[in-house]
Amino acid sequence: MGTNSPTVTLKADSMFHRSSVRFVMCLAGCLAIAVTFAVEPTPAPKKKPDVGFYATTQDVVEEILRLAKVGKDDVVCDLGCGDGRFVITAAKRHGCRGVGYEIDPKYVKIARESAKKQDVEALVTIHEQDIFTVDLKPMTVVTLFLLPELNDRLIPQLEKLPKGARIISHEFDVPGLVADKELTFVSKQDESEHLLYIYTTPLKKKLAK
Ligand SMILES: C[S@@+](CC[C@H](N)C(=O)[O-])C[C@H]1O[C@@H](n2cnc3c(N)ncnc32)[C@H](O)[C@@H]1O
Repeated sequence: MGTNSPTVTLKADSMFHRSSVRFVMCLAGCLAIAVTFAVEPTPAPKKKPDVGFYATTQDVVEEILRLAKVGKDDVVCDLGCGDGRFVITAAKRHGCRGVGYEIDPKYVKIARESAKKQDVEALVTIHEQDIFTVDLKPMTVVTLFLLPELNDRLIPQLEKLPKGARIISHEFDVPGLVADKELTFVSKQDESEHLLYIYTTPLKKKLAK
């Protein structure tokens, strides 16, 4: 991994930020269906989102793709892609394919429109699909911004990734796996520390206690 970046060593004071993120993500998940019915003409999600939409700031998106050393031959997959910013940025900046999976039709629509507006429609595919049903075999980079218990449930799918694939999880780790690297990145956009966990395949599972 490169070292000439604003990435710095882990600090404990990001704990408060992480708790706030967890709270907002859970609250947004609970509100997703109610808000859709109340104000949006788009259909409600077919399944209640496991966590709500909370966007990664653009400078953190770019740092994650840099840490994953994304190149034009990669296939970048964001599980719970929200407005599609990870896969759209990967296509725009690195010229690679991007595949996003999102359960909420409101964000599927936003992500597809954004890919079109940013001229990367040919490289970006957004699926309205539950992340726990996705086949990850064709992916080489997976990005996650989900809660740790959801990350753990994805391990059987993550194990199907090809050798040398990179998984980068924003803010929360995958508790059942040993990370190759843990970092914090200070976002200029929200002036907060963001925890980043990097895993590469073959995955290293933690031994059961
Ligand atoms: C915290 S947001 C992250 C959005 C985006 N990845 C980012 O980092 O900016 C999590 C997203 O996962 C979606 N989501 C939650 N449960 C899901 C599921 N089971 N399948 C697909 N998407 C899901 C939510 O609707 C939300 O958009």
